[in-house]
Amino acid sequence: MTATTAPAPAAKPPVVKAPPGPTPSPTAKKLSQKTLKARETRWDKRGAWFLAFITAFIVVGLWALSAFYIDVAPKGRGPQGDTYVGYTLGILTLVLYAGVAAYSMRHRKRIQKRFMTRTWMEAHLAFGLVAGLAAVLHSGPRLLSAAPLHGAFLIAWLLLIASGIFGKIVSVVVPRRLTAIEDEALLAEDVTDKQIAMRKEIEDLLQANPDEKFAAYANTTVPKAIKNPQSYGKRRMRRGQVVEEIWTETGGAAALPADKHETGKRIVTCLVEERFFEQMQGYHWLLRAWVPIHVALTTLCFPWLIIHVITVFLL
Ligand code: HEM
Ligand code: HEM
Repeated sequence: MTATTAPAPAAKPPVVKAPPGPTPSPTAKKLSQKTLKARETRWDKRGAWFLAFITAFIVVGLWALSAFYIDVAPKGRGPQGDTYVGYTLGILTLVLYAGVAAYSMRHRKRIQKRFMTRTWMEAHLAFGLVAGLAAVLHSGPRLLSAAPLHGAFLIAWLLLIASGIFGKIVSVVVPRRLTAIEDEALLAEDVTDKQIAMRKEIEDLLQANPDEKFAAYANTTVPKAIKNPQSYGKRRMRRGQVVEEIWTETGGAAALPADKHETGKRIVTCLVEERFFEQMQGYHWLLRAWVPIHVALTTLCFPWLIIHVITVFLL
């Protein structure tokens, strides 16, 4: 008979009590996760710029090698597109073009994480700049003395880079200026709606007050007195003060009969608001307008790159 020995029950792990103190709220947890992610993104961005800087260093180094050693006369004709270094820089530009343009593909994929977009964007900026440098050094540099077709291609390429730099500056400067003059964050379409409503109110006030003095005050005197919204400094957010200032400056009390003072102040308010909306609309336009130019130049450079490669080898 075999005696079966039942396995001894496993010893229960000691219950560890959580140290007394406030338990982290879900919001705090979320916040710390957010901070961590932001930190991660910052390092990714720095990494992108660091790699781009190394690439730029290699590009300049290769060019210097060609200009001061490998292709120096009488060994060579100086740095050109068809030297070993020239080919290397040309091909590198081609690779950078493909990589940088790939950003737009990722950009269109809505499923990707937000921080990835930011990192890709940073890589786009950094390597886009290197692509400009590599193309210039690949050509010699030779811009004015280059064959017209190749020279024009380099100009188109540099315009592509310049439009990107312009866009980056706009996307940093304009939102700051926009928030400085808007009471609440508005989309361009909302601004249009408000502009239409404001114009309608102005027209209604003008129709309800058809006398010449009122029309001259609203159509000429006040619009002349309204300055650029940015120039109102800190007062721009307190429109009431701006309205009072314009009312006093234009001598509204003397220009209009006493029974029209309230309506007069209202039309000054509407005209000031309209001027602010116009400015906001201009900023929204600036934020959007450069993108099609940048994308059009990207598209133009693609067939041109193919033509360039075909012509330099076949013609
Ligand atoms: C954005 C990319 C590029 C730009 C803006 C560019 C621009 C130029 C320019 C301005 C020249 C000088 C032409 C002259 O002196 O008349 C040149 C020459 C040359 N490029 Fe490119 N290039 C690019 C990419 C490439 C690529 C990918 C290749 C091929 C692998 C290539 C091959 C050459 C060759 C062989 C020459 C010498 C042609 C000659 O001297 O007649 N290039 N390139
Ligand atoms: C080889 C050079 C470059 C190519 C081929 C290129 C191409 C593109 C493309 C196709 C887009 C559109 C993305 C989309 O919305 O679908 C884009 C966006 C953008 N590019 Fe470039 N780019 C280049 C260089 C640069 C440079 C040098 C900068 C600035 C330093 C720059 C700044 C931007 C910015 C800020 C956007 C975002 C536009 C938005 O708000 O959607 N690009 N680029």
